[in-house]
Formats: sequence, C-alpha cells, structure tokens
Amino acid sequence: MSQTWIIVGATSTIARAFARQAAARGEGVLLAGRDMSELESIAADCGFRGAPFAEAIAFDAREPASFAPILERARGIKGTLSVAVFVGSMPDQEEIDAEPSLVDGTITDSFTGPAHLLTLLAPLLEERGHGTVAGVGSVAGDRGRLGNYVYGASKAGFHAYLSGLRNRLGRSGVHVITVKPGTVDTAMTWGMEKLPFVAQPEKIASDILRAADRKKDIIYTPAIWWPIMTIIRSIPERIFKKMEI
Ligand SMILES: NC(=O)c1ccc[n+]([C@@H]2O[C@H](COP(=O)([O-])OP(=O)(O)OC[C@H]3O[C@@H](n4cnc5c(N)ncnc54)[C@H](OP(=O)(O)O)[C@@H]3O)[C@@H](O)[C@H]2O)c1
Repeated sequence: MSQTWIIVGATSTIARAFARQAAARGEGVLLAGRDMSELESIAADCGFRGAPFAEAIAFDAREPASFAPILERARGIKGTLSVAVFVGSMPDQEEIDAEPSLVDGTITDSFTGPAHLLTLLAPLLEERGHGTVAGVGSVAGDRGRLGNYVYGASKAGFHAYLSGLRNRLGRSGVHVITVKPGTVDTAMTWGMEKLPFVAQPEKIASDILRAADRKKDIIYTPAIWWPIMTIIRSIPERIFKKMEI
C-alpha cells in the first residue's frame, strides 16, 4: 500500500533530507510549514526524486487555526498515512533568561503546537489502523542543563507526550517513534562552536526511516548518544547542578 508522510516543520534542514529520502523510496509527502514558497520548491524537488504525491500546506505551531486544514487535506489522501514532526525552536538560553516571555514560544514550537496537531490527527490515524508517527525530540530533553533548559523542558514534555501517544495509537496498529538526535549540522546549530559528535541531517533522516521500517520505539541518533546520555542521566543531581555542560 502506498505511504504518504505528513512532514511537519518541513523546511527544517533535517526534514528536507527526510523528504528527499522518502521521495526516493517512492513515498508521498505533504509538506507542512510556514514558508509556502520554500515548501513549494521542496515539493517540486520531491516530485522530481520519485514522490507520487508532493504538496505544500500552511502550518504555524503558534496558530492553531492552521491545524484543521491539515486534517482535512489528510483525510483526502488514500493509503497509509504517516506523520513526521520536525518543528522546533531553540533561542539562546541567555536570551530567554533576559526575556522570560520567550519561554512560551519555545514550548509552543517544540511541544504544545506539535502535540495539539498530533492529537487532532490521532482519530484519523486510528481509523486507518496503520502507519507511523515519528516525533523528533532531542537528547536535550533527557536532562535539564544550564545551557538550554527551556528548550530541554519542551523536548522532555514532547517525549512524555509521545510515550503516551505510542500507548494509545499502538492499540489500533499505528506505531509511534521518539527520535532523540544529538547535535546535528543544521540551521538551528549554525554558528555554534565546539559542538560534540556533530552529525549530518541525512544520517538522522535515514535513521528515522530505518526505525519506522523496524518499528523501533525510541532511538538515539547517531547511536553514540545512547551511552553518552546514559552516563549523563546517571550523574547525581548534587554533582550535576554544579557542572557547566
Ligand atoms: N540541530 C540539532 O542539533 C538538533 C538536535 C536535536 C534535535 N533537533 C530537533 O530537530 C528538529 C529539526 O530541527 P533542525 O535542526 O532541522 O533545525 P531547523 O532547520 O532550524 O528547523 C526548525 C524547523 O522548525 C520550524 N518552526 C519553528 N517554529 C515554528 C512555528 N512556530 N511554526 C511552524 N514551524 C516552525 C522552522 O520553520 P521556518 O523554516 O519557517 O523557520 C523549521 O522548519 C527540531 O525539532 C529540533 O529541535 C535538532
């Protein structure tokens, strides 16, 4: 049966790589995001690479009015429907500390906006009875740290949401994957110095597709981040609270 991915936050650097790879596998893409002209050009590229269906649709995590048209469009797409969520924002923690109102937008972009959209799409996915939801969280959600604890908190919330969604949708045959990338060379990390184990977006994209094929629940990508985060999570809080990582 043909599969179409609803790609949320489709202008993201990782999402573009994901869309290209899904297209090359002969899968359809519904590209949701804010920049319609950019989305149209990604759609054209996906069509060229082999996607049987490639269309752009408006989505803004801070504008809930943009969510219902995505559900309506999805209803009209035949075959297996899957969703991959890439939307997120990571303002500098120092900027947030100086301007607390930035907390709300960060959490809306990376957690509550995507969770609202997924909750709206869930009954349609349950009705279809198959497909995958891949939610991109972050290793930053595994432990709140000095350098980005608001972004980390939004990802931790998204991880917990995906865990519950996995439990709910699994009952009707829909598989949910929590994706925890480490540092990736994208627009989000552009200009940041001394980042450890930086991966390319193509690697994250192919790991997500492989995890979907193998029905994995939670993945760290690249895999080196699983032992790293196991160590980081095991550091006692009385020591961790004094660390500068
Ligand atoms: N890069 C890393 O090191 C890293 C590590 C772990 C996890 N991640 C996660 O991976 C995902 C993809 O990020 P990326 O690295 O590819 O960075 P990116 O290129 O900056 O992508 C971020 C995406 O989020 C979209 N976005 C932000 N706010 C939005 C809003 N209010 N409504 C709709 N779309 C919005 C952006 O849209 P516009 O193009 O319209 O701005 C863009 O498509 C994110 O969830 C990020 O948290 C990244």
